[in-house]
Amino acid sequence: MQNETHPYHQSGTMKSHISQYGTILESWYPLGGRGHTQELFTDPVISSIAESHGKTSAQVILRWHLQAGNIAIPGSSNEQHIIEDFSIWDFSLTDDEMNQIAGLNQDRRNSTY
Ligand SMILES: NC(=O)c1ccc[n+]([C@@H]2O[C@H](COP(=O)([O-])OP(=O)(O)OC[C@H]3O[C@@H](n4cnc5c(N)ncnc54)[C@H](OP(=O)(O)O)[C@@H]3O)[C@@H](O)[C@H]2O)c1
Repeated sequence: MQNETHPYHQSGTMKSHISQYGTILESWYPLGGRGHTQELFTDPVISSIAESHGKTSAQVILRWHLQAGNIAIPGSSNEQHIIEDFSIWDFSLTDDEMNQIAGLNQDRRNSTY
């Protein structure tokens, strides 16, 4: 099931509802969507976690999706970003870091539907 999902819109109610059918959430707009990525990339919680791991905010957000059990397919037309976005297998977020990102949810959609 595809639904807008990123740290500011974590789709918790939908995710728990579809899980009873064995359905997995695919995160539409996994980095916040075009025109909105900087809001997430400069979020103080995300950027400080990124700094502590020597990773970028995009990598932390994608790692969060992975550990939260979301399917995330980020969009990019930049080769370096594509390489960066795939380089998230060599670190993991702690339970505390996952909880900090969970606390960023605002149920805020960036898409208009
Ligand atoms: N159901 C459908 O028919 C359908 C159709 C189309 C799209 N979609 C969904 O749309 C989503 C993609 O939408 P989207 O591309 O707007 O959202 P997004 O993946 O949340 O964000 C893409 C933006 O992030 C930037 N970006 C990606 N990696 C980056 C990095 N490492 N550092 C800095 N910037 C980075 C891209 O810029 P650069 O290009 O400069 O990297 C682009 O501006 C997918 O999740 C897909 O599921 C669904």
